[in-house]
Amino acid sequence: MKTQASSATLRDRVSEDMPRIRAELEALVRIPSISHPGHDPSQLRRSADATAKILRDAGCDTKIVEIEGVPAVIGHVAAPAGAPTVLLYAHHDVQPVGDESQWQTPPFEPTVVGERLYGRGCADDKAGVLAHVAALRAYGDDIPVGIVVFVEGEEEFGSESLEDLLREYRDDLTADVIVIADSGNWDVGVPALTTSLRGIVNAFVDVRVLDHAVHSGMYGGAVPDALTVLCRLLATLHDAAGDVAIPGLVSGQAAPLDYPLERFRAEAGLLPDTELIGTGRLVDRVWTKPAVAVLGIDAPRTGEAPNALVPAARAKVSLRLAPGDDPHKAYEAIKTYLEAQHPWGATVQVSLQELGESCQIDATGPAYDAARAAFRTAWDGVEPVEIGVGGSIPFIATFRELFPAASVLVTGVEDPDSRAHGPNESLHLEEFARVCLAEALLLANVAATVRPA
Ligand code: BES
Ligand code: MN
Repeated sequence: MKTQASSATLRDRVSEDMPRIRAELEALVRIPSISHPGHDPSQLRRSADATAKILRDAGCDTKIVEIEGVPAVIGHVAAPAGAPTVLLYAHHDVQPVGDESQWQTPPFEPTVVGERLYGRGCADDKAGVLAHVAALRAYGDDIPVGIVVFVEGEEEFGSESLEDLLREYRDDLTADVIVIADSGNWDVGVPALTTSLRGIVNAFVDVRVLDHAVHSGMYGGAVPDALTVLCRLLATLHDAAGDVAIPGLVSGQAAPLDYPLERFRAEAGLLPDTELIGTGRLVDRVWTKPAVAVLGIDAPRTGEAPNALVPAARAKVSLRLAPGDDPHKAYEAIKTYLEAQHPWGATVQVSLQELGESCQIDATGPAYDAARAAFRTAWDGVEPVEIGVGGSIPFIATFRELFPAASVLVTGVEDPDSRAHGPNESLHLEEFARVCLAEALLLANVAATVRPA
């Protein structure tokens, strides 16, 4: 019937549009829109302008809004009478490139190698922006739902002003269904809906033992050094099996999905003799149990370190939280746990860097059924799976608080080889075309089954 006929048309239109979508994606990837402090903020403005132009050309009434100098783009298409409104989210900022010598192609020069397009932000999340554009353009002037496109510019730096922005532009952003294209699929060829994300607490741990650095030969043997103390302290974050030792954190159970150990080891790039840590099913360990890691230490660099005992040292510790855990409580838990310890009488102080809420989605109801049907068609009959992810998208909690009646669909373009945040980030192009088609089909399915509030 109508859905059938139009899905074939949508398939043709999306596929005809892919060369242009690709060119627009490459143009966005050429802009180094890094949102971390210390990078040129005019690049964020350029990428917001470029995003706004693409949305305007796709028929959206578009504006750039700024909170605390960070530009986000909002695009609108009015809803046909009686039709629901869908908010399409993505972010146009990217992570820093890290060690550039590890990149096989220049990070801001989009390059195709084999089936993939390489470049910083190719997958996370500029392809998310273009998936929304592809879905809209597949309908020309005849989009079956109301549309709000919302492309923010500071996701990779914790979306600090997003809450204010959502509150200020709440009326512009109200929708019945929210599609967050910032996650990924289970594998190339296997679509997924993300139904849980972990929360996050990043904290600094400061250790002080001495008033000033002293000669390591004169005092070593009787005076402890801050780095050794810090190491002993950090070693208490895990138990012998590698599970998190901090008391009071929540653990949950993931969907009954089998993540083969060998696949996981290969995707992570684990060296042959390195063991996995923690206990329980792998999907529980990476999606629904807490994890803790030391992400950095401020200390003298080895090449310049004098023969002196280090008086003070700082570590950045990152705690991922099970869906449902409370990040404020979890911060108190890690702070209490570490500050109760005084290895050799050292002063230990824990302070908060950032925290973010977890998310758990009950994927039942018409919007989720609409998504599953769209995915099944776009992937030629492959049944979508529900996955968790170990990463965090804290602002989903804010969306849900402000728009409690809306269904939140977490989708995305990433696959296990995308290497978001790492060197050689890439996008699988054929899979990307399926994501674009799936989103186009989703809009029709939502129009047919979701009633506006
Ligand atoms: N796209 C990721 C979230 C994600 C991670 C989805 C892994 C699917 C798999 C997002 O851009 C991200 O990196 N979030 C940060 C949040 C932080 C800045 C508060 C993260 O998880 O570190
Ligand atoms: Mn990201």
